[in-house]
Amino acid sequence: GAMAEERALAMVTCTAPVNIAVIKYWGKRDNDLILPINSSLSVTLHQDQLKTTTTAAASRDFTEDRLWLNGEEADVGHPRLQACLREVRRLARKRRGGSAEDAAPLSLSYKIHIATENNFPTAAGLASSAAGYACLVSALARLYGVEGELSEVARRGSGSACRSMFGGFVQWQRGERPDGRDSLAHQVAPETHWPELRVLVLVVSGEKKQVGSTAGMQTSVATSPLLKHRAEAVVPERLALMIRHIRERDFEGFGQLAMQDSNQFHATCLDTFPPIFYLNDLSRHIIALAHRFNAHHGRTKVAYTFDAGPNAVIFTLADTVAEFVEVVRRSFPPAANGDQAAPQPRGGWGGGGVPAGSGAPWCQDPTTAALNLSPAPQPGPGPQLVDDPSQHLLGEDGLPRRCA
Ligand code: DP6
Repeated sequence: GAMAEERALAMVTCTAPVNIAVIKYWGKRDNDLILPINSSLSVTLHQDQLKTTTTAAASRDFTEDRLWLNGEEADVGHPRLQACLREVRRLARKRRGGSAEDAAPLSLSYKIHIATENNFPTAAGLASSAAGYACLVSALARLYGVEGELSEVARRGSGSACRSMFGGFVQWQRGERPDGRDSLAHQVAPETHWPELRVLVLVVSGEKKQVGSTAGMQTSVATSPLLKHRAEAVVPERLALMIRHIRERDFEGFGQLAMQDSNQFHATCLDTFPPIFYLNDLSRHIIALAHRFNAHHGRTKVAYTFDAGPNAVIFTLADTVAEFVEVVRRSFPPAANGDQAAPQPRGGWGGGGVPAGSGAPWCQDPTTAALNLSPAPQPGPGPQLVDDPSQHLLGEDGLPRRCA
């Protein structure tokens, strides 16, 4: 039909989630292909909480590839971005070679424009690269009509991005092959599997992290004997155990192991030479608070985990959210923090009253936020296609609609 003609302009918008690892990925055996030294496991956060939106457009009228990050033009030549683009185009070519009757023969030689926005601070240890590359790959794949296994492509953008290609509970299998074809993510359980589980993000700082994950883990691989031990002897057992806890919805087992694995990851950072510090005083305060809370209840009712930054992700069950949030609020009186800002929850208090994309809601004052403790978000789904064309980040002219 009409789609059989080469289109002059095609545009696709997708959103993708952030994920938080409960068995951490840290260290590569191949820096170019992004192959990890150990498998990892994560929980996909709900996109009401944190998400990336990406619009990808291709047109015969575009004269060069262009990229905008949060409204600012950025370098489209980034090797990882180029790797993702190359891989999606390769899959598209392969697919078209197979079936002559393709519905959308969008020319692969057209230049592309990409606009991407996060509704949270970029590079603050909130897995922005994971959501970002998962979103980019999802949008490009849709644009070129590519389906199927895409976690391998997202992995080329950022290791943790392969896990954001699925919702719920997701494992990234390290794989054995030198070409990385078996280093893929798959879903362990869907987001509906554990309806009582809640995820709170406590934003301690929106600042850019001191040492990026890529450089940090490279130094760790080169210098930390603890990391080597962890990858070889600790993670394989923990991974199997964690999957069992998830399958059985055993919160105590899940929570304890998540905390231990977070702590071991930060221990490998300290074991790196020179050492890397991602936690700050507020992070450590949250850790102590969680342990005091659990000790008071005589069992594990909340669990924390931290990636490459000071922001905490808290796991708990629905019946504990209100009590723990109240304890955090009392422990961090907003007015009495000196120059350090109190951690702000995303999706915790305020009952999800923060409209998506409304600037920086982590700056919202928890005392003025309506303390309507509707449930904090559960784990969420994988990347989504945005159907409504008014949501495209690029206009008909292929340029950003809203400038930051
Ligand atoms: C601490 O995926 O950001 O968040 O593969 O170099 O892009 P690159 O690193 P990245 O590392 C994430 C590390 C982590 C743990 C995790 O998400 O498993």
